[in-house]
Amino acid sequence: MIASAVPFVASMLPSERAKAVGAPVEADLTGIERGTLATVEWRGQPVWILARTPQMLERLRQGEERLLDPQSRRPQQPECCRSAQRSIKPEYFIAVAICTHLGCVPTFLPQAGAAAAGPDWRGGFYCPCHGSKFDLAGRVFRGVPAPSNLVIPPHKYLTDTRVLIGEDTP
Ligand code: FES
Repeated sequence: MIASAVPFVASMLPSERAKAVGAPVEADLTGIERGTLATVEWRGQPVWILARTPQMLERLRQGEERLLDPQSRRPQQPECCRSAQRSIKPEYFIAVAICTHLGCVPTFLPQAGAAAAGPDWRGGFYCPCHGSKFDLAGRVFRGVPAPSNLVIPPHKYLTDTRVLIGEDTP
């Protein structure tokens, strides 16, 4: 069963001084179970790390015709994430947790068919403020108020299980 809890990963918090200057934030991925979401803070914004399951990745290949920018052509992500899965490693999706409409924090609804998002829902992020929908790669659906995919911050992997958010590979 997929848990929908959104833990805040306290061990990932940078020092107060680092936060003040907007320094990159290092996150340890080992504690994030498949199918669940963790949140870290970077530059005063929440950033999600979703550990995607093989089933979630499979669902990204379905229903692209319903998406506004399925191949990430618009500049909402670093170049390394310009693809359908929008990530460096397929299993970890990292995105700024702010709706591209008016800035609400969307709700993680991983289950297909979740009532709030409609019967054809395959899992993703639903913004209850005005009903925008994003899939499990943060790709926005057509016909909702949000004009673009969720923003992906610059990031890079330091090791297999440690990622630095806020800094890109040159
Ligand atoms: S702020 Fe998300 S739909 Fe309006």
